[in-house]
Amino acid sequence: MNISAVILAAGQGTRMRSNLPKVLHPLAGRSLAWHALETARQVTGAPPVMVVGHGAEAVRSTLGEDAAEYVLQSPQLGTGHAVLQAEPVLRARSGLVLVTYADMPLVTAETLRQLITAHQAHNGPITMLTVITTDPRGFGRIVRNAAGQVLAIVEEALATSEQLAIRELNTGLFCFTADWLWPALHRIPLSPKGEYYLTDLVGLAAADGLSVQTLVVEDPTEMIGINTRIHLAEAEALLRRRINQAWMLQGVTMINPEATYIDPGVTIGSDTTIWPNTYLHGETHIGSGCELGPDTIIHDSQVGDHSTILASVLDEAHVEDHVEIGPFARLRKGAHLASGVHMGNFGEVKNSYLGPGAKMGHFSYLGDATIGPDVNIGAGTITCNYDGTYKHPTEVGEGAFIGSDTMLVAPVKIGAGARTGAGSVVTKDVPPYSLAVGVPARVIRKLERPD
Ligand code: UD1
Ligand code: MG
Repeated sequence: MNISAVILAAGQGTRMRSNLPKVLHPLAGRSLAWHALETARQVTGAPPVMVVGHGAEAVRSTLGEDAAEYVLQSPQLGTGHAVLQAEPVLRARSGLVLVTYADMPLVTAETLRQLITAHQAHNGPITMLTVITTDPRGFGRIVRNAAGQVLAIVEEALATSEQLAIRELNTGLFCFTADWLWPALHRIPLSPKGEYYLTDLVGLAAADGLSVQTLVVEDPTEMIGINTRIHLAEAEALLRRRINQAWMLQGVTMINPEATYIDPGVTIGSDTTIWPNTYLHGETHIGSGCELGPDTIIHDSQVGDHSTILASVLDEAHVEDHVEIGPFARLRKGAHLASGVHMGNFGEVKNSYLGPGAKMGHFSYLGDATIGPDVNIGAGTITCNYDGTYKHPTEVGEGAFIGSDTMLVAPVKIGAGARTGAGSVVTKDVPPYSLAVGVPARVIRKLERPD
């Protein structure tokens, strides 16, 4: 049977006190809405329907038109009214409708699958996820009769003191049989607050003599909804812990998981050790046997196996195997360090390739450069790659030795096996196996070629 997910995301989120729509606030590097979309998509295998209202344009443009089918709810007349907006899109298409919320980012795909499985195991039109807890958090109460059958959900604001004492709460997550759902949504009565509550469907089904099934959630922390920035911080800690524990079970060592920040989507090989204050963001992929941190920030980068990165920052970089970086190195977009490269302290590399075994120990900047294998970049070497208008390339051939404090004024080529003297300013190409010194640098002798 075709299953569709509807994600409610139209509410205002006043208590965030923010100019940013609530569902766009970031959690572990991605928006709240992204988490809800990703989880729903994993369960149904298709982009969900997202009901948007407040900040609709910002939500759509941030998440992208392909991430969901958007339907607009305007004005916002309650959760029942919100689901009703999906009817034109889903009516002819879906057998089951799963309802989730963009501000409940910790719900797992596994829990949603269990909800669907529970629904498929009986004939009733509604299966809902409930939670049993002594902390009511403003959730609706599940009212049952003496035989234990569900009669209704009562919102906290409308509950009697007896009902307020009920410990079984509505998480808000439902699975509905579509044929029953669409007409029933039109029968929801207006609440005393002037809204159409999705939760009132439960009373309608019970009154029709239909059975309403419940599934009690195993881990109540999945049901944390984000209403304030305090909830956001709680969810951040929980999600980080969940991600870190999954990686530790995959063979990654974390010296202090509480100070290790890994975004969803990052991958890490086994026997990699992560020291505190390390951040792995975006599309970052780390190989096995690496040592990362302490104090390392990596965005959208690839790192091979057995590499060490200490107190450094990498952005859109590619690092191969057995590379040593840091402390205090910066790799910017397009930096590519081949196997066995050593990049020590206070170096910056942008849009440059360092060949296998190249060394750049101290205080250097390489931009738009191609460095051959086994080159030594002396302390303080700078590629002067920008003339104020254009960027120019620098090439250094295999085995060359660039003396300390060399300025490589691009465009310029240093041949294989060549050397530059300390403090030289190289404005013209240096042929292979020759020594250039001075300001501006001149070739003063030929060097012996290895056999
Ligand atoms: C709702 C449930 C309550 C449940 C709780 C769990 C109802 C009436 N109550 O209460 O039983 O315990 O969730 O968190 O459903 N939304 C829209 N359009 C609207 C109204 C809301 O898209 O017109 C979205 C909101 O953005 C939010 C979600 O629906 O993501 C829930 O709405 P909210 O007003 O927070 O409902 P609660 O009072 O929390
Ligand atoms: Mg809520």
